[in-house]
Amino acid sequence: MKPANYDFLSKLLREKSGLVLSEDKMYLLENRLAPVARKRGMADLDVLTDTLRTSADAGLLSDVIQAMTVNESYFFRDKTPFNTFKQHTLPALMPTRTAKKELRIWSAAASTGQEPYSLAMVLKQDIRVAGWRFDILGTDLSSAVLEKAKVGLYSQFEVQRGLPIDLLVKYFKQVNDMWQLDAAIRAMVRYKTYNLLENIRTLGTFDVIFCRNVLIYFDPPTKTKILNEMSRMMPPDGQLFLGGAETVVGLTDRFKPIPGQRGVYSINGTALKAAS
Ligand SMILES: C[S@@+](CC[C@H](N)C(=O)[O-])C[C@H]1O[C@@H](n2cnc3c(N)ncnc32)[C@H](O)[C@@H]1O
Repeated sequence: MKPANYDFLSKLLREKSGLVLSEDKMYLLENRLAPVARKRGMADLDVLTDTLRTSADAGLLSDVIQAMTVNESYFFRDKTPFNTFKQHTLPALMPTRTAKKELRIWSAAASTGQEPYSLAMVLKQDIRVAGWRFDILGTDLSSAVLEKAKVGLYSQFEVQRGLPIDLLVKYFKQVNDMWQLDAAIRAMVRYKTYNLLENIRTLGTFDVIFCRNVLIYFDPPTKTKILNEMSRMMPPDGQLFLGGAETVVGLTDRFKPIPGQRGVYSINGTALKAAS
């Protein structure tokens, strides 16, 4: 690929999806985009780039963005955030919300659904929340991954990664060589295609935001902008969960780390209540 075309594509990806490609990632771009070009009968990536430059082919742009994004996810990824959510977040937030008995939760890069469904399974099993209403929203840039999430069909490999066997038995049924998540759990999550670079505040307000393993792909100003926007979408005691390699430190002072809970932040930084 011509270096000028690499520059064009990396700039376009940064603008449209936030993805930052360092200068040595030409091989990655070529590997991921070659199938997109082939599928459309284009001779090579220079043709693909010229098409993007000269036409308003939204379908091609979307295919390019989706080919470049990492969609990897698994149930109860890193375990601790889900234990924290159950043992600390719920006991900290519920006492001040007994009038409405409602919690709004956003999985901001939901990918194929394992993250919001892990939260839904935690809630489904918790007797403390009987009579409560949970609005769980899963968003992602890619509508293709959200389609998979909605169907809730996972391979043996996918259910083996992180999902406790008792939850597999309880909430999944085998469909040929796949496993389908129970309709009642699927119904707890609604999905919406949404780009985090867009005006996310139109999504409303949330008591808990899981924004895990997506900021890592963005440059610092983009991370700061998204984190600041999120801080305006939460009450002071709302809790933000980031991925293991992500932090707010050096990016914004609107969120404070919650003492003792790695990767969990709130606006007031209040210490969490101990598990009851
Ligand atoms: C690595 S997955 C993380 C999934 C899940 N949060 C987890 O931790 O397992 C990253 C997801 O972020 C999505 N993504 C990337 N850029 C995005 C953007 N600008 N807006 C919304 N989602 C984006 C990708 O499509 C992908 O599904």
